[in-house]
Amino acid sequence: MKELRIAIIGCGMISHRHMTVINNLNKRGQNLKVVAAAEIDKEKLEEWGKQYGLAEENLYQDFREMLKRDDIDEVEVCVHNNLHTSVATAVMAAGFPCYSEKPMAASYADAKILYDAQKKYGQKLAVQISSIYNPQTRIAKEMVEKGKLGKVYHVRSVGHRRQGRPGYDMPFFSHDFVNPKIGVHGPLFDLGIYHLAQMLYVLGMPELESVYGMQSCDYWRNEKIDDAVGCHTPIEDLGVGLARFKGGISMDIYEDWAIHMDEIGSSFIAGSLGGLKFTDVDTTGGPLAVPEGGSIVGGGFLQKPRLEWFGVDEEGRLFDNKLDCAIDDITGMQELALNPEMQMYNDNQLQWYSYLRGDLTDETRIDSPYIAMQTAFLSEGVVLSSELGRSVTADEIKAMSKSISLREQETPFGTIKYDFDEYKG
Ligand SMILES: NC(=O)c1ccc[n+]([C@@H]2O[C@H](COP(=O)([O-])OP(=O)(O)OC[C@H]3O[C@@H](n4cnc5c(N)ncnc54)[C@H](O)[C@@H]3O)[C@@H](O)[C@H]2O)c1
Repeated sequence: MKELRIAIIGCGMISHRHMTVINNLNKRGQNLKVVAAAEIDKEKLEEWGKQYGLAEENLYQDFREMLKRDDIDEVEVCVHNNLHTSVATAVMAAGFPCYSEKPMAASYADAKILYDAQKKYGQKLAVQISSIYNPQTRIAKEMVEKGKLGKVYHVRSVGHRRQGRPGYDMPFFSHDFVNPKIGVHGPLFDLGIYHLAQMLYVLGMPELESVYGMQSCDYWRNEKIDDAVGCHTPIEDLGVGLARFKGGISMDIYEDWAIHMDEIGSSFIAGSLGGLKFTDVDTTGGPLAVPEGGSIVGGGFLQKPRLEWFGVDEEGRLFDNKLDCAIDDITGMQELALNPEMQMYNDNQLQWYSYLRGDLTDETRIDSPYIAMQTAFLSEGVVLSSELGRSVTADEIKAMSKSISLREQETPFGTIKYDFDEYKG
């Protein structure tokens, strides 16, 4: 297999997960080589270089210098939320395919700018959304398509943590998660994207009509922690909404970073003939993201996504079916034994590399940029509705969304100016 030469921008927590996946894929015969990395924090950069064996000449504080190289096949953007559009468009403008972290952006306008950049620069793009790369999502999508649930009328997109604000209650996460200029939004744009994107994708990307939503920030805070994380303008800890889609489908949304509650249930799809309950949605990246003998970067356990199917047969008898959707190992599921090609659909990064190599095409890959952009559209509806105190239509979201992605960034070596298109609606 031809060598794929990779560059990383942002050597923080999630970059280590990218490296774990790369390492695990190389053990499975992929020929992936990380040839360069960029990180504004010099100390972090040097440590990262040592950890992964990159020589000094392949380490850059200024990613723009790295993008002058001509021996890179693709760039993985691991900076924080409100820099995704800024950095990823710069990567594509410099002539490189780009794989960017989630959320696609902190506003719909920015997600659209990044989406359009694919065409503008003629470059491939993918966005990390681990929840859609696994059998749980594929099986559910197929069931909806085959009409096994009948007419879908309602969907719930839900996620929660108890006292789990990253960078605040969980100090080992970057404080940028709770920085209003960089993380920008709370749980809806963090864990919420995994649940919303999964539901939208399973439903076949239904067209949004309107959203009513609210975000709030009322959970317990402490001055000492505020000082320690350098954040005195809190961002939301709750995002809720009720969306209406063409075709008579409603969706309620509940995403909470901190609730005092053990269980609040999971996402589900309700149809005239059946219901599907989604348990343990994959928000951590699946088995390839786990280092050998170690645990997932950032903590937590490997999720084992499952589906529960509640239905009624032709005789009117009710049934409950439990569908195990876990991928215990890349070759662990029977589906993979029967069709090894399916492994390209079980991991974000593997799908991206397969797409770059031409093993997947625009038609056969999962269109993560489109799904991520539509997810941002729905999330933005909640943001705008919350600000306005009323519901917003899809047209209003398009008209009111604003680009907020950073156009200037202060760094230890000076100001980086980002030059990307204006949002045109
Ligand atoms: N941490 C997780 O578990 C996790 C999981 C999934 C997705 N993500 C997403 O990944 C992104 C990064 O999260 P993280 O936890 O790794 O944050 P982080 O703060 O640990 O890492 C981001 C790194 O980017 C660097 N950086 C900022 N601007 C840069 C620039 N111009 N050039 C080069 N480097 C730059 C920062 O110095 C920092 O080291 C976020 O958008 C987050 O939503 C994180």
